[in-house]
Order: sequence, then C-alpha cells, then structure tokens
Amino acid sequence: MATLKGKDILHGNQFTKKDIEAIMKVASQFEKELKGKGVVPLLKGKLLATLFYEPSTRTRLSFETAMQRLGGGVIGMGPVEGSSVAKGETLADTCRTVAQYADVIVLRHPKTGSAKEAADAVDIPVLNGGDGTGQHPTQALLDVYTIHKEMKTLKNLTIAMVGDLKNGRTVHALVEVLSLFNCNLYFVSPGVLRMPEEVTSALRQKGIKVEETEDLRKAALESDVIYMTRIQKERFADLAEYERVKGSYIIDAAFLKDLGKKITILHPLPRVNEIHPDVDDYPGAAYFRQMRNGVFIRMALLAMIFGKR
Ligand code: NCD
Repeated sequence: MATLKGKDILHGNQFTKKDIEAIMKVASQFEKELKGKGVVPLLKGKLLATLFYEPSTRTRLSFETAMQRLGGGVIGMGPVEGSSVAKGETLADTCRTVAQYADVIVLRHPKTGSAKEAADAVDIPVLNGGDGTGQHPTQALLDVYTIHKEMKTLKNLTIAMVGDLKNGRTVHALVEVLSLFNCNLYFVSPGVLRMPEEVTSALRQKGIKVEETEDLRKAALESDVIYMTRIQKERFADLAEYERVKGSYIIDAAFLKDLGKKITILHPLPRVNEIHPDVDDYPGAAYFRQMRNGVFIRMALLAMIFGKR
C-alpha cells in the first residue's frame, strides 16, 4: 500500500481499498495487543495537538486516548473562547503556531474545507476530525471497521443510511469508503435532507447500487446494516424547519420487533431521539462497540503516520 507516513488524513476519497484493509489490520492488531496492557509505547516523545472549534466528545477523547495508549502526549487548545481564536486569529496562523509545539494536529472546524486549509498551512500531518458538513474520514474508517467486525465481511452488504444525509459529514465520508467494497446503499431521509445529488450520482457512476426512499421500514427490511444519524440542528438556518423534521426516524424496540429479523445498528453518536434507549440491549445494537473501535482505528492511523506500523 502507499504508506501513510507523514500524510494528512483529509477526505474519505483519499484511500484505496488496500489502504483501508491495511489500516483495519493494524487496528485489529492494536485491539489484541492492548488487552491486558495499558499502552503499546510506539510514539514516546511525540505530541498530538487537538484543535476543536466545535463540540466533540468521542472524536477528541478517542484521539487523546489513542495517542496516550501509544505512549505519546497530547496538548489541547481548549474551547475557542479561551484561545487567540477569540481575538480574531486565522485558522492558518493558529495551525502554524501549534506546528511549532506538536508533531500532528487533529482539527474539527465548522467550515467545509478547513482541514485542507490547515494542512496547506503547516508541514506536520493534519487529521480531519470533521469539517463542517464536509468530511469525517477517521469516523468513516472506524465505521467500516465496525461493520466488518459485526458482519464478518464487507462484501455484498446492503447498508441503509438514515437521517440527515444532507448535512451529515459522517455519511459523506462513509460512502466514499464503502464505495470501494461494492456495497448496496439505501439513503433514507426526509426530502429536505437528501444526500447531495452530486454524491449520489458519483456513486452510481462508480457502479454502486443506490436507492433513495423516505420509508425506513422498507429499507430496513432489505438491509443488513442501519447507519442512523442525528438531524444536524446546528446546520439549519431555519429552526422551524428543524422542528418539522427532527422526529422523522426513530428506531425503538417495537420497530425492531415488528421488523422480524436481526439487523445491525450503527450510529456515530451523539443520539438525540433517533435511537430509543430500549434498543441498547438488542444484540445488533453496535453503536457502543463502534465508539470503542474508534480508539483502535485512531491508534492505527497515528502509528502509521509516524511510520511505526
Ligand atoms: C459526529 C460528528 O461530529 O460529525 N459525531 C462524531 O464525530 N462521532 C456526528 C454528529 O455530530 O451527529
């Protein structure tokens, strides 16, 4: 595979199938190696900087966990209000500053394209932890790792992506990765939150079977995996519109019972109301396992970027 050493991770479309298989293999090794030990100290003396201009729990903490379990250190800018961003510093200047202190940056930012902008400003690797409604490539890798673990294959699967397909960066990145594995896709959303037309048509051009529907039950009956997403309230210009669509799709125990078959359920989290807590004990509910997998995938990416795997 083309090595990840020194590379930025910016977009779901930057990987080949071989890259993804290699990353998943390294993640799986770390998953085994970590059992019974707290650390696999490959990155002693290296520092990760976390720059989060938007809220985060899983992405930031799992990156911090991954770096520390690799024996490296972490510095964080903290909330933007407490940094020079509040004085009007540009993203490029903030990144140039951090590049004097740390060896790698994870950035989350409300502007689509910001991760590329940061990567262009500095010589150290930048990992995109979510850029606006754009991309979230490390999430896509942990999602596909989770699907593979749960289903034991990535071949011939039908995956239903549900919810805010217009604004959700996780699904925008995930379709890029899944398109390498010949999956069939269902896009389930209210009309106003459909997957952008250019994404759908690019997938079809690659030969991926894509079906769009507003009917969750119909899609679920024909799918192996449901990938639920949160309606992205913060992206709505008109909150009345958010109110109209916020309860569009809800999975609960009654829905699953009525479905009458086992299905695997993922969600990048956080959830608002789209998966009822009465689903949490369902054997196919994989979303808590999914967030744990984020640590192994991010360990793999960090180790590979530093040429240690
Ligand atoms: C997602 C995000 O920030 O895009 N969360 C995550 O990284 N696990 C999904 C979301 O906020 O809905």
